[in-house]
Parts: sequence; structure tokens; C-alpha cells
Amino acid sequence: MKVLGIETSCDDTSVALYDSDSGVAENLVSSQVDLHDHFGGVVPELASRAHLVNLLPLVDYLLERQKVTLKDLDGVAVTAGPGLIGALLVGLSTGKALAAAADLPLVGIHHIEGHILANALTSDLVLPAVVLVVSGGHTEVVYMPEVGRYELLGGTLDDAAGEAFDKTAKLLGLPYPGGPQIDRMAKKGIPGRFKFPRPLKNDPRIVFSFSGLKTAVRVVVDDLPRPLSDQTVADVSYELQEAIVDSLCHRLFQAARRKHVPAVYLAGGVSANGRLRARVAEEAMRLNLHFRPPEPVYCTDNAAMIAYAGWCHLDAGRRDSLDLDSFPRKPLSSWR
Ligand SMILES: Nc1ncnc2c1ncn2[C@@H]1O[C@H](COP(=O)(O)OP(=O)(O)OP(=O)(O)O)[C@@H](O)[C@H]1O
Ligand SMILES: [Mg+2]
Repeated sequence: MKVLGIETSCDDTSVALYDSDSGVAENLVSSQVDLHDHFGGVVPELASRAHLVNLLPLVDYLLERQKVTLKDLDGVAVTAGPGLIGALLVGLSTGKALAAAADLPLVGIHHIEGHILANALTSDLVLPAVVLVVSGGHTEVVYMPEVGRYELLGGTLDDAAGEAFDKTAKLLGLPYPGGPQIDRMAKKGIPGRFKFPRPLKNDPRIVFSFSGLKTAVRVVVDDLPRPLSDQTVADVSYELQEAIVDSLCHRLFQAARRKHVPAVYLAGGVSANGRLRARVAEEAMRLNLHFRPPEPVYCTDNAAMIAYAGWCHLDAGRRDSLDLDSFPRKPLSSWR
């Protein structure tokens, strides 16, 4: 079965082709980072307009490169939400139009399910599992007994982990998106020069809080002589990353113990973080749990994960009508 995937929930326009016989045939991403960099974050209206300009040419390019036409496909999978509503609408309307024109089945995908199932593009899933979803808009711990069933175990009370990386990177004068910059700078950081809090550390619930971290970094950074030296930025980055990764690991393994699962996974853009991947791998090995991090290319937004999730649903006989709506917010556990 060949499934075309479309992803436009935020600032990446992405299309992919997943073939159930051979895997991901193509995964094209047109990034809008340069467009939004100047504003220090994503401007929703600019994102929608850029998707509108880029999406159809990207679909044409993919079909051309793969030497297939729409008639050779078996389905269209498109992100229905959550995300920026204007950006989602561009992808969803395009997906519906392509499906209607070529008489193909259509399936809407929850973006977070896409991030979770991206793990299956790296190796076969070991289930049941506990998944730490860490992205620009989400930080939550999900129990997955099987593909298509998700139970939310807990999440952030304020900012997402990706937001914490991006906002503090901005305070340090690093470009957008800040997560990869902090990851890069932290490698040169000298431990111990700064100390940041681990909020809610003794809370028995599976909860995160990152908003206080931004304030703690600002208080420290405001007192430092300007301009900030590279070493200072590296030292702050190191301690900030440690604080975020400590909280994430603590909750992931707390949930794994509670649910007695044999496997843990990471999902979403922040799972590209080198320190997080290393710390989770270390602890999983110590506890004898299965863990394999998703390939970096499938951590941030991409349509391969949407095409794959689409194949799972189409294969199980699920279809959506052309009445399918996009949604800015909806928990994964209450979707479908
Ligand atoms: N190496 C890294 N270290 C830390 N954070 C990273 C790294 N690479 C990417 N990120 C962060 O990942 C986030 C982007 O992830 P993703 O594309 O999944 O988010 P999103 O799609 O905007 O949000 P959501 O998936 O919740 O809708 C950004 O906040 C970015 O800074
Ligand atoms: Mg995402």
C-alpha cells in the first residue's frame, strides 16, 4: 500500500510517500525557519501563506521523483490537528482535494500520534510502552498498549519543553529555534557555574513545569556583563539543558515503573536533543528496558510519520469523509 502524507501543522511544509512493502520512499520538508527567524518565533499568518505557496509544488516534485501519479497511490493521510488552524487548513484542504480528485481514501491524523509512531520508522515497536512526548507545543507522558490506543498519564502545567528551550535561547541571544542551539552550545559548557531549579521534583504526580526556569535564567543573565561571552552562553546552556533533561527523565521512568512496561520511547522535536537521548538510553539500560531513539530526521515535524500513521489507520479499515475538520487543540486520548 502506498500512502501520501501531508504535514502543515506549524512552520514546516512536508510531504512524504510511505510504501508498506519497502518503508519511507521519500520525505520532503520545506522549512520556514528563515521566514520566522526575524520575529523570534512562528508568525501564524506567514506560516499559512508559505504552506499555500509551497505545498502543491512539493507534492508534484515528490510524485515526479518517485515516478508515480496520484492514481498509483492507495490513500492520503493528512494532519488534522493540533496546530495552527490556518496552517492545518491548507494541508487538510489540499489532502481532501487530492483524495477527491483521484478517488482515494482519506484519513486525518493527530499530529502527536504521528510523532509517537515515528518510532516505528526506526525499528519495530516493543509494546506496551510509555512514551515521553516532548515538542514545541507538548510535554506529556503517554501509555501506549497498542498502536491506536493512547492513555495520557500526565503533562506540563505550563510551558512545553521545546518552548522552554526556545524562550531561554532567545534570552541568550541565540537564533530561533533555540533547542538545537542550546544542544550545540551545552556541549562546550563547564558544569557548576550556575544552578537552576527542578520544579515539582517531589510532587508524586506525573507533572512538569518549565515556566519558572525561564525566570531563573533571566535573573541570572540580567546580572551578567554584556556582551555575553560564548563561554557564558555555553555554561548557561549546559545547566539549563541539565535542568530540563532531569525533569523529563525523572517523569518518564516514574511512569514506566508505574505501568510496568518493557519499553520506553521519546517523541517530538526535543527528542533530537543529544543529552536527553543519552540520559534515557543510560537509564533504560540500567533498568533493562527497551529503548531506541527515533532517527533525528523523524523527531521534528515531517510527513513520513503522518504517512506511516495513515497507513496504520487505512490498513485497519479507517476512513474519513470530506467533512473532516481541522482542530487547533484536542488530546490524543480523546481523538477517535
Ligand atoms: N536538539 C534539540 N534539542 C532541544 N530541542 C530541540 C532540538 N531540536 C529541536 N528541538 C525543539 O523541538 C521543537 C520543535 O519540535 P516539533 O517540530 O515537534 O514541535 P511543534 O510541531 O512545533 O509542536 P507540536 O509537535 O507540539 O505541535 C522546538 O521547540 C525546538 O527547539
Ligand atoms: Mg510537532
